[in-house]
Amino acid sequence: MSDTIDLIFEKYERAQDQLIPILQEVQRQYGYVSPEAVKKISRYLKITENQIYGVSSFYAQFRFSAPGRHSIRVCLGTACHVRGGATLLEMLERELDIKCGDTTSDKRFDLDRVACLGCCALSPVVQIDKDIYSRMTVTKLAELLKSYE
Ligand code: FES
Repeated sequence: MSDTIDLIFEKYERAQDQLIPILQEVQRQYGYVSPEAVKKISRYLKITENQIYGVSSFYAQFRFSAPGRHSIRVCLGTACHVRGGATLLEMLERELDIKCGDTTSDKRFDLDRVACLGCCALSPVVQIDKDIYSRMTVTKLAELLKSYE
């Protein structure tokens, strides 16, 4: 990883306003921003790791844990939200024992929210990997999870 991160640094000035573009590129290349990457960025930009986590917490796009084997995205766009999207997300957090943005310890699932999956008429909608599941309920979702190893 270190070689690639150094190559990323070469493209950006050593200036604090480059933090977000650097984080975006690290995430594009690795799928997430690892603690090791945060350490290196901190050294490169001369800002603390806490500052990096603090600033990036305003941007939902950044992941700080490696993705799981399956990625669950719960739509919390307006249509899905009013039809129970938040309840589905809460149920998943409880069932998988993780918070939104995290990965289960067995690496089976990672969980996140999205703004709109573009099929509002089918709300509430949950995406697992490339599959979209429409008109989801807590019961259907619990059953569905069993089919993902
Ligand atoms: S709001 Fe969920 S698909 Fe549009």
